Formats: sequence, structure tokens, C-alpha cells
Amino acid sequence: MTDLSTTFMGLKLKNPIIAGSSGLTGNIEEIEDLASKGAGAIILKSLFEEEIIYELEQDMQQMQGRQFVYPETFDYMETTPTKDRIRQYIELIKEAKSRVDIPVIASINCVSDQKWIYLTQEIEKAGADAIELNLFILPSDLSRTADENEKLYYSILKQVKEKTKLPVAVKISYYFSNLASTIKKLSDSGADAITLFNRFYSPDFDIDTFEIIPSNILSHQGELSMSLRWVGMMSGRVDCDIASSTGVYTGQDTIKQLLAGASAVQIVSTLYKNGSVQIKLILKELEQWMEKHNFKTIADFKGKLAQSNTVNPASYERVQFMKHFSQFIKFKK
Ligand SMILES: Cc1cc2nc3c(=O)[nH]c(=O)nc-3n(C[C@H](O)[C@H](O)[C@H](O)COP(=O)(O)O)c2cc1C
Repeated sequence: MTDLSTTFMGLKLKNPIIAGSSGLTGNIEEIEDLASKGAGAIILKSLFEEEIIYELEQDMQQMQGRQFVYPETFDYMETTPTKDRIRQYIELIKEAKSRVDIPVIASINCVSDQKWIYLTQEIEKAGADAIELNLFILPSDLSRTADENEKLYYSILKQVKEKTKLPVAVKISYYFSNLASTIKKLSDSGADAITLFNRFYSPDFDIDTFEIIPSNILSHQGELSMSLRWVGMMSGRVDCDIASSTGVYTGQDTIKQLLAGASAVQIVSTLYKNGSVQIKLILKELEQWMEKHNFKTIADFKGKLAQSNTVNPASYERVQFMKHFSQFIKFKK
């Protein structure tokens, strides 16, 4: 009998497929649907730091009759005049916990180590099994050094870990000047898991209306290679679990990420494009492949192709590049 279970940031998952944070995990109907299709865990749609600060400011203003000014708060108010987001979020955690029997991971999108951090205790009280911090400080501020930006990541993580006993995952992008060292430092700073990678809307231009518009909202399958490389290079070198995110569409993609050393695999775009039934198909493909290769458990092959386990670690790096690209010389005239 094939056992698909895995351990991820101290949580026992019945399989490694996590429905990643997105609009699909922001309401109870979709969450129940994802669970019924076999998801091993779900990560709720992120609550944004701006939403938390905005509501805190409102409360404080009411209490003290004073005006508080946070530039991010006003940006947020202009675009999203939602009320009671915190209460709704806490309710969503409670409802999800009462309606599905898989781990429910809360998610906060944050950019500072300021007072929003108190909320992690509320999330814990509401019954969430873990928290994922979606951390992104766009490295575009000319007045800040890379070191200053990176220190903020460690500071946020440290303060969250001090406030809550829940396992904490950190979801990052690959915009770092020394990505390997940052991943290692996040692990050393107490991250229970690191998610590689977040994916952002990229700006595009409408050349008739002269507007800046979002593009590439959903990933495509070819984007798997970026996270595959970094999961493979880092999985044997950090003391925490790694989840892969971006470009996982199929059972094959999942198998590759597990071979690279991921403990779990987050999927989003494939759910939007192919529907939640994709979870079943991925699980079936994974199970059949494990039977074919006579693997009884995920641990039998997890990390088999991680850089730390390969006979030729250079295959992840420059040698392969030279080999393949020096032969790639013909082009159409
Ligand atoms: C419509 C949409 C909404 C998303 N919302 C969030 C979010 O609230 N928080 C978050 O951490 N990631 C969010 N993401 C990013 C996904 O969790 C995921 O990291 C990304 O889509 C890459 O995975 P994929 O290739 O499986 O789509 C969102 C993605 C999409 C497409």
C-alpha cells in the first residue's frame, strides 16, 4: 500500500499537495471543495498588513479621537474600502477548522515588523495550524541597502516567532543578491519552512489608454524550473522544510519537486486553469509513479535528486550550462 503522507513544518499531511494562498482559499465553499478533492492542506488567502493597520488605525482613532497617518493605510483605503477584514479573517479560520479535516494555514502578506504582529496571536487562538508569512520588500528603494532590506525579513520572522507558538513558514521571492545565504539565514532565524517562491503580478502597459495594467497573473508550467533549481540546491542545506511554489501543474511536476527535496508542493494556477479536480489527478499520477518505482513512502525518494545527494552537484550549476549552450550554435537565418 502506497503511503502519500508527509510531514511539513511539524504538521502531518495526508499528502504533499497544498492548495496555495489565492482567491480560491478565501471563502469556505472553495476551501471545502479543495479539501473534498483531496488537498493535504490549504493556505488561506493572505490578509494584508495594510488591511490590518487600516483597521487598527480606525479603532485607535475612535478610541482616542485622534488622527493617525500611515501612507500605506491611505493607499490601501483608496483601493480597497473593506471593513472588518480582520474579524472576517478570524471567522474564516474558525469556520475552515470546523468544516475541513486538513491543516489550515493562515497567511499574512507583510512588509514591516510593526504592530500588525499582534494578530498572529489571534490567528493562533482561532485555531489555525500554522502561519505563512508572505514577505516582500521590493528592492527598488535606492536609499536602502540590500542588507537593510534583508534584516527586515529576519526581524519580522523573529518577532512573529516570539508572539506565537504556531509553526511559521516564510514565503519569499528570488529577488535577493545572495539568495542561498538569505534562505539559510531565514532557516537559522527560526523559520519552520520556507516557500520557494512567491510570484508577483508584473506590470504591463496598455499602449492605447496609457495605463499600467497587471499581466501574467497565472503562472505557466515552464516556470517550474526556477523553484526546482532552488529547492534542489537548498533542501539538503537548511534545517527547515521547504515547500515549492510556482509552476507546479501535474503529478510529474510534483514528483520532480519531491525528488528535489520539497516536503510539500503548493499549487494555485493549475487549480484556476484546470479546476480543483486537478488535485485528484496529481495524486493519482504520484501514486502510480511510486508504485512503478516501488516506493512505499514519500521519504523513500524525497531529496533523491537534491544537489547534496547527487554524484555530480555541478549539474545544478555552471558546468551543465557550458556543456549545453556551447553545443547550441545553430539558428535559423
Ligand atoms: C489570483 C491569485 C491570488 C493570489 N493571492 C495570493 C495571496 O493572497 N497570498 C499569497 O501568498 N500568494 C498569493 N498568490 C500566489 C500563489 O499563492 C502562488 O505563490 C503563485 O500563484 C505561484 O504558484 P502557481 O504557479 O501554482 O500559481 C496568488 C496567486 C493568484 C494567481
